[in-house]
Amino acid sequence: MFALALLQTALQLPNMSATIQADFSGASTWRVSVSNNWDVLGPFPIHAREQHFLSPSFPLNLSQSIDFEAKWPSAYADNGVVGWTQASSDGNGNVAVSFPEIRWTSLRATEGWAALQHHSVLRTSITVSPPQHGIESASTPRLLVSLAQGSFFTLRPTSNLDGSIPRWYTGNVYGMDAAPAQSIDFPVAPSVSGPTTYDVFVSGDYELRLFGDPAARNSEVPELQVSLQVEISEPEHRLILQGSHNVIPDFVDGWAFGRALGVGLRSSEGWWTVTNISVAPEFASALEFKLLHETRLAPTQTRIVPLHLTQNGPIVSEILELLITATSGDSSIEISVKLPVRQYDLWQQDTYSPLHATFFYATSMPTAFLVKPPASENGDKIFPPILAFHGAGVDVINMPFWVEAVPRQKNSWVIAPAGRTAWGLDWHGPSTKEAWGAVDALHDILEARSAWHPWRTEKNTRVLLIGHSNGGQGTWYAAGRFPDKIIGAIPAAGYIKSQSYVPLVQSRSAHFVDPALRAILETSLTPDDNDLFLSNLVDTTILAIHGGDDENVPVWHTRDLVGVLKAWRPDANVTYQEDKGKPHWYPDTIFDNDSVQRFLDSTLEQSFVSELNDIKSFTLTVAIPSDSGSLHGFHIDSLLIPGRLGRLTVEVNEGKVFVKTINIKAFSIAHEPDVLLAGKASIVVDGQDFDVTALRTQSAKHLLRKESQWEVVSRAAFSSTGRLLNILSSSTPIAIVIPDEPTVSENLAARRLAHDLDLYHKLDAYILHASEATSNDSNFSEGHLIVLGGKSNAFGAALLKTEKTAFSLHKEQLKLRGQAIDKQAAALFLHPHPANSSSLVLFMYSDSETGLERASRLFPIRTGITVPDWVIVGNEADVKGAGGVIGAGVWGHEWAWNEAVSSF
Ligand SMILES: *[C@@H]1O[C@H](CO)[C@@H](O)[C@H](O)[C@H]1NC(C)=O
Ligand SMILES: *[C@@H]1O[C@H](CO)[C@@H](O)[C@H](O)[C@H]1NC(C)=O
Ligand SMILES: *[C@@H]1O[C@H](CO)[C@@H](O)[C@H](O)[C@H]1NC(C)=O
Ligand SMILES: *[C@@H]1O[C@H](CO)[C@@H](O)[C@H](O)[C@H]1NC(C)=O
Ligand SMILES: *[C@@H]1O[C@H](CO)[C@@H](O)[C@H](O)[C@H]1NC(C)=O
Ligand SMILES: *[C@@H]1O[C@H](CO)[C@@H](O)[C@H](O)[C@H]1NC(C)=O
Ligand SMILES: *[C@@H]1O[C@H](CO)[C@@H](O)[C@H](O)[C@H]1NC(C)=O
Repeated sequence: MFALALLQTALQLPNMSATIQADFSGASTWRVSVSNNWDVLGPFPIHAREQHFLSPSFPLNLSQSIDFEAKWPSAYADNGVVGWTQASSDGNGNVAVSFPEIRWTSLRATEGWAALQHHSVLRTSITVSPPQHGIESASTPRLLVSLAQGSFFTLRPTSNLDGSIPRWYTGNVYGMDAAPAQSIDFPVAPSVSGPTTYDVFVSGDYELRLFGDPAARNSEVPELQVSLQVEISEPEHRLILQGSHNVIPDFVDGWAFGRALGVGLRSSEGWWTVTNISVAPEFASALEFKLLHETRLAPTQTRIVPLHLTQNGPIVSEILELLITATSGDSSIEISVKLPVRQYDLWQQDTYSPLHATFFYATSMPTAFLVKPPASENGDKIFPPILAFHGAGVDVINMPFWVEAVPRQKNSWVIAPAGRTAWGLDWHGPSTKEAWGAVDALHDILEARSAWHPWRTEKNTRVLLIGHSNGGQGTWYAAGRFPDKIIGAIPAAGYIKSQSYVPLVQSRSAHFVDPALRAILETSLTPDDNDLFLSNLVDTTILAIHGGDDENVPVWHTRDLVGVLKAWRPDANVTYQEDKGKPHWYPDTIFDNDSVQRFLDSTLEQSFVSELNDIKSFTLTVAIPSDSGSLHGFHIDSLLIPGRLGRLTVEVNEGKVFVKTINIKAFSIAHEPDVLLAGKASIVVDGQDFDVTALRTQSAKHLLRKESQWEVVSRAAFSSTGRLLNILSSSTPIAIVIPDEPTVSENLAARRLAHDLDLYHKLDAYILHASEATSNDSNFSEGHLIVLGGKSNAFGAALLKTEKTAFSLHKEQLKLRGQAIDKQAAALFLHPHPANSSSLVLFMYSDSETGLERASRLFPIRTGITVPDWVIVGNEADVKGAGGVIGAGVWGHEWAWNEAVSSF
């Protein structure tokens, strides 16, 4: 499968296709074969995402040899032990693993879906053979490995283990498209005179959200399905077009629907910098392309080259031809790229096509989203658009079925963002940011061309949110965090939060970890707990939908959300529509339905009526201030004790506004809409009286708590920490800083991270050396930074010397509050950015190779990995999960030590 994809992209590259094609089956190249036989050890109880703390080979230690006769304790098995079993792949690398001897029905009778989650270790072997006609070059090839639906994999020599440390690569656990293979180095170079065999180990983790309920297959036995494809990557210095990563807008009447284009490139070997771009002469009069920034690719890295398009006239061609210039060392090459373009006529009252629109996410990441134009031009009023969130696994750009289920509207655009990828971050973090970005981008696109003005949307428009499944959950999420941006919401088949979807009761870590520490770790889930934020939705019009026989997201989730919302406000305008007898997804009627359309029409119409005058009272709930917007203009800027919820209760009574705060350090009141304050004499904060006019001036609008007194100030620190995951919400490509002379494992850690950011979130990252970062600030710009490695990272060492947090570096020893951190341990922590107070630095610090491996696995690449602002993890995590955490916590206000939410 992978070879085919490679061939297809090669065909777009005339100069190079010959060499690529010639190399595949002949005896003149390296070859690799994968055994069809697998050894399997399991199942072991685990909760979702716990494999990021445990060793992926748990219970094995791969630095030692393996006893295939041994038995291991497992609470799932009769008599409490499991041993090795066998499985076979189908010859195409697909292997199905199950444990039919386990009495699953009995386990799930008491534990439900939680008991189906399990971990197993899978082993097979690969054999690598050198070219039959001898070796021409001295360099060793690499392997291109695609592991679908497995969490991690590693390659191990079959003998002479010598305490070697396994290097774990992430699999494409969601089986997403646009997934470049992992390009991996051999742990020990293969023989040049004969075949060499390696063991491959895979962490096989049955997650209910990925594999579903076996009942859907009429079975009681959960079955893990993993696919492993392996190819050789010859040691050639090449830049390869990665067509899966191209980002191209549609053209309407010959005009591009968006100014952002992206060309996917992968380096097979060597550092490459894309330095220029030009367009084929026949387009030069109509189109001008600008390279947004020079794009440097580390060896094996995939990036999307950002191109800004300026158009001077329409084009009719269905192919765009560009020439990319790239350099590597002294050599310079030109690559010709042919991009397919879809041309459409202007949409009409009764004919239209969903369109691919584009914009630059985070200043320079070309990003596509899908839109459905309204049937009619704007009249006197410009209606808000509908923002639609797809379910997990849906590539909304390339799978039209999803958006087809959302009916075209008379007056409103339908905007369906990608959410970074088919899973993204479950519509949180960068996925939410992208969604708001797409709304702004549509306005800019329509504004930029006068022929499209009759359909334009308002600048900074509010939206009506709609979503299904993961997107239903995302609808509750985004509405609860940004209530002022929402005119109404239709969450369908959404789940409350991950811990309610599949409970964490089968946690291995919980058998070892101090519950107080566990609570600190789990504060990193709080921002995702949609039920805790329902107080923010009491004044939002909601139609909540769920199929009565949903086999995927149990129907009680929506019933519960609606019930909790009504506990905050019994007469909240929330309607619950349970579609009796319906399953999870019933595209013909779930949104294309009379009652849904009535709700849409009425809510869109009522969006022009301000109801602020009727507001009597509300409670604003916030976990991480930077991740939440305002409610009725009230915005929480920072918390007294980050890691705990902040709540602000507002009551309007007798011409006064009364505010009561819980755990709030600073808050502000927006000028627009400030109707709530208009005509009021004073605002009373925790019993303290303030003149409203003072707060309605341009310069003073924040209230800051000092000791127990509130003061009106013109600015207040704004906090963006709370969990490591916030590193994903960078406003620019993420810079990964490695030491000047990185070790093999530091190099690898950086490349794997860049790969994972691309695979899971299509987030652009670039790798630079410490001296490059130190010598010139412009190198790492103003977005988030990741500093990798230990004391040898001069850039990181210099930052730590500033002692902006409780972490410091003394005589090459990392310390927390003066206490030395064990050299084998890994510390992950957020730190202020040297140049921009709103940006973050993430340290992934370890002076040992095993430590760096552990730090890499704890990077919060997916939701549900419980890592707050800082965490120190030791060797014991391999077997005890979070029980191996040495310390963890959330920073206090302005990076201070926060005793209440720390364990050390
Ligand atoms: C795994 O085995 C190696 C080599 O015997 C040993 O050094 C290491 O401590 C072991 N790891 C754990 C977590 O026990
Ligand atoms: C980039 O290419 C364009 C078009 O070929 C050319 O005019 C321009 O000089 C080039 N810029 C650089 C920096 O090489
Ligand atoms: C659609 O709307 C109608 C109300 O007109 C309702 O009776 C019906 O149950 C709704 N749901 C589905 C799935 O058709
Ligand atoms: C509740 O929302 C619906 C849908 O927008 C609307 O028709 C209805 O008038 C609202 N009810 C109240 C009491 O505001
Ligand atoms: C960073 O800055 C240095 C010194 O100014 C420069 O030599 C280097 O090319 C820059 N690196 C990148 C990636 O721009
Ligand atoms: C950083 O680089 C920019 C342009 O590349 C240059 O203008 C600036 O002076 C440099 N700053 C330092 C501190 O070297
Ligand atoms: C600082 O970062 C923020 C967000 O990360 C960004 O919006 C802003 O433009 C940056 N400011 C400067 C001065 O670079």
